[in-house]
Amino acid sequence: MNLRIKGGPENEKIPFKEGQSILDALKGAEIFLTASCGGKGTCGKCKIKIAEGHVRITGSTKLTVEERSSGVALACQTFASGDSQADIFIDIPESSRIVVGDKIAVSRAQDLLGLVSSMGSKIEPAVNQVRVDIVPPSIGDHTSDLDRLKLVLDPLGLKDLNFSRDFLAGMGEALRASNWQAGLRHAGGFAISLRPVEGEGQNKKFGVAVDIGTTTIVVYLVELETGKLVDAGSTYNSQIRHGDDVITRIVHATEGGGLGELRQTVLEDINGLINATAQRHGIKTDGIEFVVLSGNTTMSHLFWGLPPGSIREEPYVPTVSYFPLLKGGEAGLSVNRSGAVYTMPCIASYVGGDIVSGVLASGMTRKKEIALFMDIGTNGEVAVGNDEWLMTAACSAGPCFEGSGILHGMRATEGAIESVKITPGLGVEIGVIGNNSRAASPRGICGSGMIDAISELFLKGIIDRKGKFTPHPEPDRKGAGSIRRGDWGPEFVLSEGAAGDVTLAEVDIENILRAKAAIYAGVSALIKEVGLDLSAIGKVYIAGGFGNYLNVEKAIILGMLPDMPREKFVFLGNTSITGAYLGLVSEGFLREAEEIASRMTYLELSVSSGFMEEYMSALFLPHTDSSQFPTVEKLLEGR
Ligand code: FES
Repeated sequence: MNLRIKGGPENEKIPFKEGQSILDALKGAEIFLTASCGGKGTCGKCKIKIAEGHVRITGSTKLTVEERSSGVALACQTFASGDSQADIFIDIPESSRIVVGDKIAVSRAQDLLGLVSSMGSKIEPAVNQVRVDIVPPSIGDHTSDLDRLKLVLDPLGLKDLNFSRDFLAGMGEALRASNWQAGLRHAGGFAISLRPVEGEGQNKKFGVAVDIGTTTIVVYLVELETGKLVDAGSTYNSQIRHGDDVITRIVHATEGGGLGELRQTVLEDINGLINATAQRHGIKTDGIEFVVLSGNTTMSHLFWGLPPGSIREEPYVPTVSYFPLLKGGEAGLSVNRSGAVYTMPCIASYVGGDIVSGVLASGMTRKKEIALFMDIGTNGEVAVGNDEWLMTAACSAGPCFEGSGILHGMRATEGAIESVKITPGLGVEIGVIGNNSRAASPRGICGSGMIDAISELFLKGIIDRKGKFTPHPEPDRKGAGSIRRGDWGPEFVLSEGAAGDVTLAEVDIENILRAKAAIYAGVSALIKEVGLDLSAIGKVYIAGGFGNYLNVEKAIILGMLPDMPREKFVFLGNTSITGAYLGLVSEGFLREAEEIASRMTYLELSVSSGFMEEYMSALFLPHTDSSQFPTVEKLLEGR
């Protein structure tokens, strides 16, 4: 039997086998649906409509009665039924289709060169070049090309240089083409390339910094000699097809046997970005000689094709923390096959190279002042310390600030509500990414919008400290600013529009409160563990996927960030890519990253006695202990 998509190409028939889910059949045809839970039937995001045909439905608890009676089903819970051979016709609503190509809001580009010099460093990449002048072979001297090269490398202190098969395959031709006078590029004990010395200036060398995020992938193409950012590209991590968070990906890699598939998917995303950025500037990918990758522990394992199963099993130990240097060809990257590929070291199963990059980029380990680093991305990690000590923990906040598990949640991309203000007349003013017009019709709400919305609802008394709706002062109000009964219980209407209404349901608020509580409890438990209190913290560096915008004030009202003097907060945006860039342009930063990793002490919060207590207290707005949020309490008094 086949699947046919209504409104799709006339004759397109997608094979649909007995026992297969519609979600899997569509995947086989390269049609990907939003599948936040990875096909477990718990997220309710993979909705389709059965227009015609007989199917077997095993679960639909995430659907309303109306949806079920109108033929809506979850693609992952709907299977081919053996008692009919007729084709099944389905409709795929726009909201279920995964859009990977959308432009992602990447936080404002930093002055990267300025950052390097402000940290007292210079552009000194790990890729070095030496000139080799080799005596050409003759009929009386049959020494091989490699031995000839080694002879001149010995006095240059490069006696132990390693040579890959790819390097050797091109070596003979390169030596002859350069008339035996060449520039030899090497990094990490490996020969990378031989280039003619003449015209060397025209042979610029490039490097690539990559942030492999669970949700997004960012690539910086950089001129190695100068550290200049040539171009940047970003895309969604297409692994999203197999689930939104690291756990569902690990399950897919282990139980679903999809490790190779996940590796291939992320490789294609990265190569797509490298090829596109290089092509835009007429750069041959063979000229890309150095790559620095930064990602959480699971993403790094999946990139390497290493089984990630032990990451989610007690005692939560990854296969690798310090990754050896890879060669471009081995890695499968679209760069020089002998180029060096460095992976930022990981600390523990849930504190990865992205946090090492972030701490590096913040510069907190270079100062006496004690600082707090918070990465509020798909999971939520925190680190505290200074130039002498460093401690870190993962908060298990979940990916709700990236849209997962929230009815109208979406990532910080075009059409997402990123800011919310509730006017004194209870009207709603929204800011939508990608469109400055207030009349723009939003498609959903992203993390910064959620933070704004909840703190505004709380300040205006529309929700109470538990996040529950209070009786609305205008019960007959309709449209934006009203509370109505939705599919999942009471919901606040943020906007109405042609693309559908965007609302925030009480169950969404509950989810967001759980995530913010996990982050705040992580911070409190970590700070207490080191015997300090918040007053000892001089700076709070915040990293995360909030796009261009994070309102610190509102995040404090929500109780996600501690109530501290506002000037102590510094929003750094995506520090994983900034750290990877620093490592790319300076070998010193790579050594510094390794030093950070080696002296970072990991605190396992799941066994920390204080964490659960802190978490329960932080489930309220802003907190059960109001003395921890004095400025918010003052605001509430003046309400
Ligand atoms: S409910 Fe189908 S993928 Fe989550």
